[in-house]
Order: sequence, then C-alpha cells, then structure tokens
Amino acid sequence: MTVKFPPISSKLPVFMHGADYNPDQWLHDPKIFEEDLRLMKLARCNVMSIGIFSWSALEPEEGRFEFGWLDHVLDRFAENGIYAWLATPSGARPAWMSQKYPEVLRVQRNRVRNLHGLRHNHCFTSPVYREKVEIMNTKLAERYGKHPAVVGWHISNELGGDCHCSYCQDAFRAWLKAKYGSLEALNRAWWTAFWSHTYTDWAQVESPAPHGESMVHGQNLDWNRFVTDQTADFYRVEVRPLKALSPELPCTTNMMDLFYGLDYRKLAQEVDVISWDAYPTWHEADSDGDVAAWFSFNHDLFRSLKKKPFMLMESTPSLTNWQSVSKLKRPGMHRLSSLQAVAHGSDTVQYFQWRKSRGSSEKFHGAVVDHVGHENTRVFRDVAELGETLAGLGEILGTSVPAEAAILFDWDNRWAVNDSQGPRNKGIHYEKTVMQHYRALWELGVPVDVIGAEDDFAGYKLLVVPMVYLMRQETGEKLERFVRAGGTIAVTYWTGVVEEHDLCHLDGFPGPLRTAVGIWAEEIEGLHDRDRNALVMEAGNVLGLDGSYEIHELCELIHAETAEVLAVYGDDFYADRPALTLNRLDAGRAYYLAARVSDPAFYLAYYRKLAEEAGVRRAIAAELPEGVTAQLRTDGRNEYVFLLNFSGRPAVVDVEAAGYTDAEGGNGQVSGSVELPLNGVRILKRSVQ
Ligand code: GLA
Ligand code: ZN
Repeated sequence: MTVKFPPISSKLPVFMHGADYNPDQWLHDPKIFEEDLRLMKLARCNVMSIGIFSWSALEPEEGRFEFGWLDHVLDRFAENGIYAWLATPSGARPAWMSQKYPEVLRVQRNRVRNLHGLRHNHCFTSPVYREKVEIMNTKLAERYGKHPAVVGWHISNELGGDCHCSYCQDAFRAWLKAKYGSLEALNRAWWTAFWSHTYTDWAQVESPAPHGESMVHGQNLDWNRFVTDQTADFYRVEVRPLKALSPELPCTTNMMDLFYGLDYRKLAQEVDVISWDAYPTWHEADSDGDVAAWFSFNHDLFRSLKKKPFMLMESTPSLTNWQSVSKLKRPGMHRLSSLQAVAHGSDTVQYFQWRKSRGSSEKFHGAVVDHVGHENTRVFRDVAELGETLAGLGEILGTSVPAEAAILFDWDNRWAVNDSQGPRNKGIHYEKTVMQHYRALWELGVPVDVIGAEDDFAGYKLLVVPMVYLMRQETGEKLERFVRAGGTIAVTYWTGVVEEHDLCHLDGFPGPLRTAVGIWAEEIEGLHDRDRNALVMEAGNVLGLDGSYEIHELCELIHAETAEVLAVYGDDFYADRPALTLNRLDAGRAYYLAARVSDPAFYLAYYRKLAEEAGVRRAIAAELPEGVTAQLRTDGRNEYVFLLNFSGRPAVVDVEAAGYTDAEGGNGQVSGSVELPLNGVRILKRSVQ
C-alpha cells in the first residue's frame, strides 16, 4: 500500500519551484514583468512568493488602497501557469504609519523606542498595528482569496524579536497572572527570595532589561515563553480574516535555522504547513560536512515539527551578501543542496529572490535573474536544470521520512541551559553538543527526527537525550516508560538538572531520570580550553569498543547505582570513576555519558553500536565515506535513497543490497560501486513490497 501526504496545494500537486518575487520594485518599467514571465517558464519555476514587503505599494496613504498592480501580476500568473504564495505585508510598514502612530514601532530591551526603518520593527501587541494588519489582510483575502493563481498565504516574514513597550509589559503581566494565579506562586517559581527580589505588586514586574532585572532565570525563561505566545497571538490576528474568507488556502510563515527567540514547536501548531529559509555557508572548508550536517539537522527539525513534508521557502541560487565572505556555489552544489532539502522531506525548492534588486542592501544577494537581465548565466542554468530534475521526481512528492531514531531538542531547555551561569560560562556549547551526536547518525545515514518532550516517543527505537538540563518530572517518567517498554536512550551529562521553572531538582541529578539511567551525578566541573581527560573503555564492555577517547570541557562525577560501567575517566583525581554507563531496565537500555568526548570517532562507533543493537533503520545498507550521507523517503511501497556527497571530493559508495534503480531514469540496476562526483547526488529507488 502506498501512503502519501496530500500535496501542499491541490492546485499545484507537483514539486513547487520558485522564488520571492518583488514586482513592486519594477512597476516603473512594465516590460520587466513581461520578461519575468517568460524567464519564469524558462527556468521551470511554477510558484512565486509575492507581496512580502509590499505595504507601501498596497496602501500608499492611510486608507487608500492600490491593488491594480497586484491584480495584473496575479492575472498574468494565472494565464501563464505560475502560482503564488501571497504574503501579508506586515514584515515592514509604510513610513506614514510609523509617523502617525509611533506605537507601532518596537521598543528595545533598554526601553528606547526604535525609529522608522529597516523591517521586522513592529510591536506585536500594539492595538493600532493589529488593527491595520487586520484591515489589510481582510482586503487581501476579499480580493484574492479565490484567485486561481493563489495557492496559499505567506504570513509576514521571518517572525522574530521582542518589544518592551507598555502594551507589551501589560500583556506580559496578564500572561503571568494567567499562568501563576498569584504573586506568591510567581515569587516561588522565580525564587525571588534570592537577593530580596520578592514582588508585592504585579505592577512591579517588568520584562528583562540590561539596566534592570536580567539574572532571574525563571523570569528570563518566562519572558521567552511569553514572546513566543505573543508572536503566535499576532499570527492568529493575521490569519483570522484569511481563514474566514479563504478557508481552503494553507497558511505558513517562513522560519529560520534554529532560531533562538521563538519556540517553533508552539508556532508550528498555528501554521498549516512548515516553511523555512535555509542559507548554508557552503565552501568554508575543504569538506562541507559540518555545514551540511547542520542544515540536515535543521531540515529534520522542521520536518519533525509536523511530521510531514515541509517547504524550503527560501534559499539562495548562488550566494548571499550578508555572510562575512560571499562564496559562489561550486558546480553541482545548487543541485546537491536543493536535493538535500528534498531528501529530508521538503516538497518545495524556493529561492530568495527571483530578480536581483537594483538598489539598497540586497542588490548583491544571489537571485535567479541577475542584473544583466537574461537567461544566459550559470546561475539561471543551474536553476532551470533543477526545475527539470524536480519535474521528473514527482513520485517522491508527499512521501515521508521513516525515522526510528530521534533527538530530544526543546527550546525551553535551550534557553535555560544557555542562561544557567555555570558550569562553563565561556562555552556550554549546547547546540554544538546536540550536533556532535546528530553528526554521527548523519554519517551513518540513519534517518532522525528532532522532537520535543511533548511529542509521542512510541514508534522510536532510539532516543538521544543530549544535555536536557531542563527536564520536567513528566518527561523523566515518560523516558523511563520508553526504556521499560524496550527503547534505548542515550543520555549525556548535565541532564535532569532543573524543572520547568529553572529550579533545581532536589533528589539528586539527573532528577526524574535517575532511576532510568541508574546513576547519580554528584558533581560537574568545567574544564579550561587546554584541559583534557580521557574516556577509557573497560575491557570486555558490551559495546565492544577499545582504547580511549579524548574528553574536554565538561566532566561529571557520577556514581553507578544500578548501572554497569562501560568506561572510566583516565585522569585527574576522579580517574577510574565511571564515565560511560549502561542501565538495563526491563526490556530497554539507558546509556549515560558523563563527559564531553571531543573525538568524533567515539560518537561514530557508539551510535553505530547503539543503532545496530536497537535495530534502527539506516537509509541504505552501505558504508558511507566521511562527509557522505544517505537519507530516505518512502511511500511504503517504494524507497528513495538520496546519496549526498558533501565530502569536498569525489566519493564511492558500495551498495550491498540489490534491487536499486536510478530514480531519475535509466532502467539498469544500481549495485556495487556507485560513484558520486564532487558535490554529487544520486537518488536510488527500490520496491519494498
Ligand atoms: C531572509 C529574508 C529575505 C532576504 C534573505 C536574504 O531570509 O526573509 O527577505 O532578506 O534573508 O538572505
Ligand atoms: Zn510592544
């Protein structure tokens, strides 16, 4: 039986391929738009995101709306088989609005109100801004909600940032009142008896400020949570009229790689389809492995937010102009990085932007159509070829990524662990740690979901629990049940330290996970950059690993309570004390790594063994050279294996299993040595029924 997700839009049930398009920058020269239509078809682009920053063109004066230009664009799109993600323009405001209603402008942490300018500079609470957005969106939905070219709504742009104006302060207090009910409860949760910070009146409570309160960790955490909720609330104001007038159109907002300021798991609940903007900094090193693994992690995260295909809403067809050095994509890289997104579950490949701006700050940012204005460029050819490729891969649309391993990654843990003050303020390196573990699974070609504590764990065989410093009681209990039922967890140091308010667990770390892992973490120390220790494998350990691996940065001094010791420290006053343990609990296994091992070879060997033992599926039974990964999509009947070469040199993969053909055509079987050129990608297909 084949199981597929429905296409993102039934109007365009193929891979969407296109770009952000800003025709309002070219209204003075109508020939450009007609030429763009010709070029779009030539580049095999079928979708454009339009109107993202068009407020001034749509409402040049308060209450005077001009939709003629947009009518023309959308009508001509419809006549030419081009579709549109129609944006709401709230990502930037017209100057008249900032002038007349200064309250729409954001107030910074230092309580200074911004001037008009830039973009993403609005207060998300301001009643005036919300009202203006509602009027604009109602008009857009009335006019275009049923337009044949419109496939969905693109809400604002890259939502993010916070505002500290008086509206936002009031909203924060209301949020806190709803959460805690009483000041006593708030004082207890924020541990305000410390430094005499006890609040006696709600009006005393403010958002964090550099010249005010910034060290109450529970408060910082709640502010971040409030900002997420308030952003989601603003998003709801945006979509209300759109949903009322065009309920069949999907809504999305474009997210950013591992963005810090918003809990995307919450925002994900608001949107119909996840979309995000990926800008890898390719060619920084001889191998692109590090960059590729980071972006693979992000693709996996964005797919996991809804566990269904997502959209690559933006990427650059060549270079960006905001990196410290703007490298061009080497031959092959455009295809490789675009298909990387598809391999991880994207059903679109879209760019910023279609045509290079003539002026202002993004005039040198890569675009499909360069200033020269014609199709005879390397970048245009790359894009057109990719359009051809995507058109031939239609059967992959809507397929899923069958991950049996997952990494636990939550925003509130991220905020808390980075804010914790100790044990290593010069670099706690949470995100890097997550990547250290992910990287090994990536090198092994193990499909991975990136999930949150509230997600369902059933269905996974292996859960990686790296530095889950903030762990709620119920998360610990859920992980314990997962292990008892036969699952494997791989936990690290600095896990289970605080509960949801950032208050320390008092019954011995790792708090609610202590029974599951069978250890007590008594102390932790940060190491200076120059310090090293060693993880020395015990003879005959169940993992079958020998020798020792270098440790740096963090060492926890643990006691094996019910766990068996697999490795010990090699050095210092805690030499010979446990550094890696295994607790067998009912049908499952819980590993605990007490120190940060620096050597990638350890993680590779460790996860190879854990994945094997837990019976976790790999994309393909093949040894993958370093920097080459394999990813998998399936509809239950066919498997599509993407072999992606980020190693920076040609590579060969020895495919052990039979039955593969080339998904891009050709009848012959693919087996034995599969050659991948530099920046090469191959998509193999086989039937599994
Ligand atoms: C972001 C924005 C775009 C553009 C690109 C440039 O993703 O959404 O408008 O500025 O960056 O890389
Ligand atoms: Zn505000």
